[in-house]
Amino acid sequence: MKKKFVNRVFSSVSMKYDFMNDLMSIGMHRIWKEKVISLLEISQDSLVLDLASGSGDISMKIQEKFNCKCIALDANMEMLEIAKKKLYSSQPFYIYGNAETLPFKKTIFDYVIVSFGLRNFNDIPKSLEQINRVLKKTGTFICLEFSEVNSPFFRKILKTYFKAIPKLGLLFANNKFAYEYLVESILNFPNQIQLTKKLTQAGFKNVKVIDIIDGVAAIHISKKNELS
Ligand SMILES: C[S@@+](CC[C@H](N)C(=O)[O-])C[C@H]1O[C@@H](n2cnc3c(N)ncnc32)[C@H](O)[C@@H]1O
Repeated sequence: MKKKFVNRVFSSVSMKYDFMNDLMSIGMHRIWKEKVISLLEISQDSLVLDLASGSGDISMKIQEKFNCKCIALDANMEMLEIAKKKLYSSQPFYIYGNAETLPFKKTIFDYVIVSFGLRNFNDIPKSLEQINRVLKKTGTFICLEFSEVNSPFFRKILKTYFKAIPKLGLLFANNKFAYEYLVESILNFPNQIQLTKKLTQAGFKNVKVIDIIDGVAAIHISKKNELS
């Protein structure tokens, strides 16, 4: 049910996805994604999975910076097509698939990165289990996602902004329903502490959290195995 609905949402926003991301975050999503890239310690032999790759922001930045082996996987064909059309010197390898049933052997990836994808997954615990399975023993999972703002004052301002988001969706993308879903999915997503708990329950270790703009978004970095 959720799977079909989410797929319909991303099919409907795909053409305007990049434009709306820039508009709604006043370009800040680019800085947040750069922050994720800056955390990576990658060699040319590394194998990286950009899961829920969407229009390819993360995987293309990785390819450009590290020229390693990078796979971009997404459950929506239209979003993959948008990514493929982008003219970058080096492209990742694209796969159409689902986070809940990753089509890879176990313990092969150095990094799995999910940027603004996790809250859309049909089954988050199952997806986390799959991510853990495909990571190497020394592997790292990085999740960039909307989270909970710490300051009550800022939280109020953000709540007002959230009310405007479907209106922006209607005005600039002729699509109110997709942006209503965006707000709903952000509000229903686990906060920093709750997500840390989910990661630990899925077997991840050494979970570290980096808040972005007081928690508007957060980066959760976790290891497959305990650091010795
Ligand atoms: C908000 S976009 C994020 C795209 C990109 N990672 C970014 O940061 O801009 C969420 C993406 O998750 C994908 N997605 C949703 N559910 C998925 C699933 N179960 N497995 C794989 N991808 C999924 C959607 O198709 C969509 O492209």
